[in-house]
Amino acid sequence: MDIPKPSVSDGRVVIRITAAGVTPLEHTILSGGYPRAKAPLVLGGEGAGVVEEGGGTAFSAGSRVMFTGPYGVSENGTSSEWLAVRKENLCLIPDNVEALSAAGVPVAYLTAQMTLSLAGFAKGKTVLAPAIGGSVGNAVTQLARAQGAKHAISTTTNHAKAQQARNLGFDEVIDLSEEKLSDGVSRITEGYGADIVIDAIGGEILSQALGTLAIGGSLTTLGYSAGRKTTIDVTDLIWKRASMKSFSLFAQPAEAWGTAWSIIFSLLHAGAVKPIVAKTVPLAEAADAVRYLVEGRPFGRVVLTI
Ligand SMILES: NC(=O)c1ccc[n+]([C@@H]2O[C@H](COP(=O)([O-])OP(=O)(O)OC[C@H]3O[C@@H](n4cnc5c(N)ncnc54)[C@H](OP(=O)(O)O)[C@@H]3O)[C@@H](O)[C@H]2O)c1
Repeated sequence: MDIPKPSVSDGRVVIRITAAGVTPLEHTILSGGYPRAKAPLVLGGEGAGVVEEGGGTAFSAGSRVMFTGPYGVSENGTSSEWLAVRKENLCLIPDNVEALSAAGVPVAYLTAQMTLSLAGFAKGKTVLAPAIGGSVGNAVTQLARAQGAKHAISTTTNHAKAQQARNLGFDEVIDLSEEKLSDGVSRITEGYGADIVIDAIGGEILSQALGTLAIGGSLTTLGYSAGRKTTIDVTDLIWKRASMKSFSLFAQPAEAWGTAWSIIFSLLHAGAVKPIVAKTVPLAEAADAVRYLVEGRPFGRVVLTI
């Protein structure tokens, strides 16, 4: 589709996009499950690129940036060569991080950092974030570990992915093809449980994860890869004085974005967290990329090259 190149206006910065992260939200929109997004629309909620014009001194021409925002939902998105991005959505890419990796950072890492913070994460806490190969599960695990979690536990339903996780140094991953979630968390924490669960998976996993909470723990629900509906045992909350809450990235205040970006930038810069790219796909094959993400369930991100 031919769209005119955007120009600088209303605090927006013109970005030449070089890579775009593919997320499950694109699948939700294409399946008609997200009424706020209306056709015609260029998809893509996050990306990385180079500042062309309008970034002032903070984002001078030629700077490498990554960003997310309402792109690909209420306005055109990152599956595109150019985009006019609001300045407040931009973050510089640390020199040691490739643009391809950075393109898959914004949604997952901002979500992970903000949910950890809202759940009262501090050094020494035990965190469970299901799906080590998924973007949110992996980002929560890496950020919790880098910031001093006692345990940063994750899961996979796939035996090969469990081995891949161990090879990559994620040694607190429960292989759900071999062990029940409750048994795995109990084994790793010696019966204590999880202080914080960040769940992007929904369905049966959410229900089981609730049963792993420690006394006074909390579960944050934010996604539904395995299903929007589930049944819970209310005594998992009542008997443990535990709580359950929800999260939506784009409803968070600007201040929370700023704080999360600065933590993520410094951990990336220090090499304490390392985004994982499973596959790169050219823009012309964007539809296949979404299919591969949802059906192939890769370990790491699918990124469009532009
Ligand atoms: N509320 C927010 O602000 C917000 C922000 C970011 C993401 N989200 C949502 O969070 C969810 C996860 O996003 P993501 O980017 O982490 O997804 P992803 O990268 O596609 O990972 C999803 C993971 O879910 C696991 N899974 C378990 N059961 C599944 C099933 N029945 N079908 C498919 N996958 C299953 C898979 O891991 P295994 O194969 O290893 O089991 C898969 O790797 C999505 O619904 C997304 O829209 C919401």
